[in-house]
Amino acid sequence: MDEWSSGEIYESYVGRWSRLVAKEFVAWLDQPEALTWLDVGCGTGALTSTILSTASPAAVLGVDRSAGFVDYARKTVQDERARFEVRSAEELTDESFDVVVSGLVLNFLPDRVEALRKLRSIGKTVAVYVWDYADGMQLMKYFWDVVGDLRPADRDQDEGLRFPFCSAEGLEGLFTEAGFADVTTRAIDVPTVFASFDDYWKPFLGGQGVAPAYLRTLDESAQAAVRDVLRDRLPTEADGSIDLTARVWAARAVS
Ligand SMILES: C[S@@+](CC[C@H](N)C(=O)[O-])C[C@H]1O[C@@H](n2cnc3c(N)ncnc32)[C@H](O)[C@@H]1O
Repeated sequence: MDEWSSGEIYESYVGRWSRLVAKEFVAWLDQPEALTWLDVGCGTGALTSTILSTASPAAVLGVDRSAGFVDYARKTVQDERARFEVRSAEELTDESFDVVVSGLVLNFLPDRVEALRKLRSIGKTVAVYVWDYADGMQLMKYFWDVVGDLRPADRDQDEGLRFPFCSAEGLEGLFTEAGFADVTTRAIDVPTVFASFDDYWKPFLGGQGVAPAYLRTLDESAQAAVRDVLRDRLPTEADGSIDLTARVWAARAVS
């Protein structure tokens, strides 16, 4: 169960945090100027726009299977070096690139090894990041821990359980199975500071992404029960802000 269509709502749920990760991720890749880049599952353009603003690329192609997200990226990323296509990771052409990247997408692909094999065949450097769902992605972990406590029958919806390969070892294993040697992994931590409980909670009501799509399946009183326990559990500062952190695991290799 996932849902990706409204760029604005996605930005408030995860896009704003992916943008912080993208900055560190692109700096870590430390690629020379004037390269060609492919951003697979570009969404609203978080990673593409960071590549454009920090890596001086010759060109960046962003592809995503969501027409709504591609539309949002086209409207908000105004740069003649960028182009966007509605295309799934399973429908990539044989066009080759110096650097192929993908942020927060690999775990949603049904055949991850096959997808990485394809990226290896078209990219010289291939690099991805995924949330550390099981631990360091706190805004989601708080949510799923509450769901697991209130609704044990739904525990299997928890992204931490569904995506156990979202770890350094997991990514290394997938890359190795796809034929890469010398895979490098690292964690990237970013602050996710919410001005208030509403700032934390409202994006969950928008239906964009896995946890919000799950929440939509609950009736009003069940949603309110999750909300109220979360409000009690989240570490809230005197001014009402909630200071969490989010971690991704990133992996890179050359083909
Ligand atoms: C969590 S979002 C990440 C978006 C963006 N890369 C970012 O970091 O903000 C996951 C994205 O993967 C896309 N996606 C899911 N399955 C896909 C597939 N098979 N091919 C291409 N994109 C896919 C979704 O449409 C969505 O934009």
